[in-house]
Amino acid sequence: MNRRQFLNYSAAFAAMTAFSRYSIAAERYYTQPEAGVPEVDIAGARFPEHFLFGTATASYQVEGAWKADGKGESIWDHFAHTQGKIKGGDTGDTACDTYHRYKEDVAIMKQLNQKSCRFSVAWTRIQPTGTGAVNQKGLDFYSRFVDEMLAAGIRPMCTVFHWDLPQALEDQGGWPNRDVYNKFADYSAILAKSLGDRVETWAIFNEPFIFTSLGYGTGVHAPGKKDINLFLKAAHTVNLAQGEAFRAMKAASPRAKVGTAFSMSPGAPATDSAADKAAAERYHAINNIFFLDTALKGKYPDPFEGNQRPFETMGLRPDDEKIMRAPLDWIGINYYNRHIVADAGQGGEPLTHLTEYMPTVGPITYNGWEVWPRGLYDIVMRISKEYNRPIIEITENGCAYSDAPLPDDANKVPDARRIEFYKGHLAELARAIKDGADVRGYHAWSLLDNFEWAEGYSQRFGMTYVDFRDLKRTVKDSGHWYGRVAASGKLEV
Ligand code: BGC
Repeated sequence: MNRRQFLNYSAAFAAMTAFSRYSIAAERYYTQPEAGVPEVDIAGARFPEHFLFGTATASYQVEGAWKADGKGESIWDHFAHTQGKIKGGDTGDTACDTYHRYKEDVAIMKQLNQKSCRFSVAWTRIQPTGTGAVNQKGLDFYSRFVDEMLAAGIRPMCTVFHWDLPQALEDQGGWPNRDVYNKFADYSAILAKSLGDRVETWAIFNEPFIFTSLGYGTGVHAPGKKDINLFLKAAHTVNLAQGEAFRAMKAASPRAKVGTAFSMSPGAPATDSAADKAAAERYHAINNIFFLDTALKGKYPDPFEGNQRPFETMGLRPDDEKIMRAPLDWIGINYYNRHIVADAGQGGEPLTHLTEYMPTVGPITYNGWEVWPRGLYDIVMRISKEYNRPIIEITENGCAYSDAPLPDDANKVPDARRIEFYKGHLAELARAIKDGADVRGYHAWSLLDNFEWAEGYSQRFGMTYVDFRDLKRTVKDSGHWYGRVAASGKLEV
């Protein structure tokens, strides 16, 4: 099932509300703001002196080399090798070949004045079957990669898990199997111990809500399971794993600064009614903070209107709150779009009884997502206020557009829409900082065009164009622009 088919499916299983951000619509381009799009102060935007401009990538999406140097099979290898799962039959077997071309990629970051690089580690390179002895060659790759960044003056920000679970663990039940949480903690400790002398900033998970729900609830992503109960169980194991990994990593590397990159989409109530406002809060609870409150408060928020059944399905045990609780050092926010939320009485989504949609007031990107910079301000301010001004990193924000090199100048990729996208979002971020949010860094998704999960190579999120025939990299206009922003801290450059 691709993301378009998923939309139909999601009517029946719409509890995974964030997914409508994957809806497909025609690409729309305009240069004049439409009525209803708030103005942003681009010229006046300023960033603090030590603000870190960076980019983000993920192992399966860029590395390729899927069985090099002893690497084991991950659920994404398995899923992509299963016919019909990925658009066009694409796989991440080669992807951008960053495994072999990492020096070139770090050189691009350096050229673009980047100060932070968010990357992820493939668990199957470190422990091919998810447990047991370390595969030294796999570890050595990340060690070289990190050294290359440091030599370029770039902070390595390492994500421990960006969705590529070892297939061997999936064969034992995957994330819905509670036993996985200890295995994950062991793996995260190996990383902290081996790279912790050079890596200080760690994200335990990337978007726990997305990989548990798309992987086990709707089956759009690996491992392709479609069972709401499996989603609930997976979510709980991941919450346990987050707490346990936090402690394991701190023990292995006391100077580690450990957080998680959460997917967050502000959900505004469709009307002023009390019912819609309550629905918007349920939306926030499941989409945005279901894996955050567990860490910071040791307990789940309530997206289920007091219904205890989902928690019973998750298999909560008396001491689990202690295991989940972890005072994250920073909160990562991945922001892509906003949603409008309405109460659905006893209908709508089976767990939360709401309906939601992504508006189309702002411009629409190539993959059908609304461009809404104000949403970044809104979610950053909400998290900042409600969690007492935590340290925040924007761990992802970006857009898909299909711009390619000019036919008569192969070194030029004009992508004005992406520049507009980043201008708007960075201006709203600067405003949030001015209004008191403690945001330390921003990571554009993504450095390179890459393997966009079930969409294969059809969606280009990069600031660097990748020709997937010969893997040649060409920095797009947006990349050059972002490089100037990183150097000056201003947006009109
Ligand atoms: C993920 C990335 C993905 C991006 C665009 C995020 O959900 O973390 O891996 O490529 O959004 O879809």
